[in-house]
Amino acid sequence: MDFYTLVFGSILALIFLYTTLAKLSTKKLPPGPSAWPIIGNIHLLGAKPHISLASLAKKYGPIMSLKLGQITTIVISSSSIAKQVLKNQDQAFSSRFIPNAIQGHNYCEFSVGWLPVCPQWRTLRRILNINIFSPNRLDANQHLRSQKVNELIAYCEKCCQQGEVLDDLFLAATDTTTSTLEWAMAEILKQPEIMKKVQVELAKIIGKGKSIEEADVTRLPYLQCIIKETLRMHPPAPFLVPRKVEQDVELFDYIIPKGSQVLVNVWSIGKDFTFWDEPLVFKPERFWGSDLDMRGQDFDLIPFGAGRRICPGFPLALRIVPVILGSLLNSFDWKLEADNGPEDLDMEEKFGITLAKAHPLRVIPFLL
Ligand code: HEM
Repeated sequence: MDFYTLVFGSILALIFLYTTLAKLSTKKLPPGPSAWPIIGNIHLLGAKPHISLASLAKKYGPIMSLKLGQITTIVISSSSIAKQVLKNQDQAFSSRFIPNAIQGHNYCEFSVGWLPVCPQWRTLRRILNINIFSPNRLDANQHLRSQKVNELIAYCEKCCQQGEVLDDLFLAATDTTTSTLEWAMAEILKQPEIMKKVQVELAKIIGKGKSIEEADVTRLPYLQCIIKETLRMHPPAPFLVPRKVEQDVELFDYIIPKGSQVLVNVWSIGKDFTFWDEPLVFKPERFWGSDLDMRGQDFDLIPFGAGRRICPGFPLALRIVPVILGSLLNSFDWKLEADNGPEDLDMEEKFGITLAKAHPLRVIPFLL
């Protein structure tokens, strides 16, 4: 190599180094509201953080940063960025952010939901996937769930004969499955034409009053549309379960600093008017003939999350939720307590462990 080549090569290398460093140094935190000392932006969350953060994202964009107390929190509010975080850069975003309340008794060190991605977590996930939620295992214990659904219908029959209000049916609404059922029933009671339409489907495919098996669900497309629409509008975990980054991570033009909490606002992704037509209206028909599914491939609808930390219980949930809802609707007609009409039904949400109805649904079953 002659002298000139060496000098020219060195200059090129320096220019390359300089531009790369300059690029890195301009990388910064995603935009967000300025933080107060100590509390950061906590005062902006209010009682319904999923809604407050969705409206802040309109101002600051789909990758936004806030300080919740001392915790740097990154909020993702669009399906394309969610895809980047949960799929393309899944590895970097797959740890869990563990709230102090959960750390109390060290349970998080043994729990599949809180462990970081590590050999112990992989073993637990494998056990769940193979021994609990695999199609074979779920088929093998289907009769147990079927028995429970029959007990539920028998209880409703008793209430029906005595004209009693059913108010403890959905009360365990901290649970993802029950809150989904409660919202589905509430939305259906609000629009009686949807109730009629699904009952017609059930009568045609299953037969009025007959019990529904899990294998029947694939033949009940409108019932499935109702479940999808319920999970779009009322995802039980509106921010998924918070993720955490263990290292500084580059995300598009930003740096997500090590230790940040990452929330994916699936509630607001489900209301994105650039993708959904009339997103605030409960309209199961929007899914008619659509192959959009909820198993973590279509990022516009990810109530179970996506990527390696996707909810392992979704195969069970997708069997049991339609069977229970379909059985309730195929066995009874339903009305609100105290002769309330659909317009009186209160759809207020309460943010907690899950996104529950603020006022539990109180309904009366009567025979079809
Ligand atoms: C409608 C019903 C359900 C919904 C909407 C739901 C939703 C979710 C969501 C959003 C996550 C976090 C996913 C992520 O971070 O990407 C999750 C995690 C989890 N879910 Fe579910 N879930 C449901 C039912 C169930 C059921 C029935 C079970 C078990 C019986 C279950 C067990 C779990 C576990 C163990 C995790 C933690 C997984 C991990 O961190 O590796 N879920 N679920």
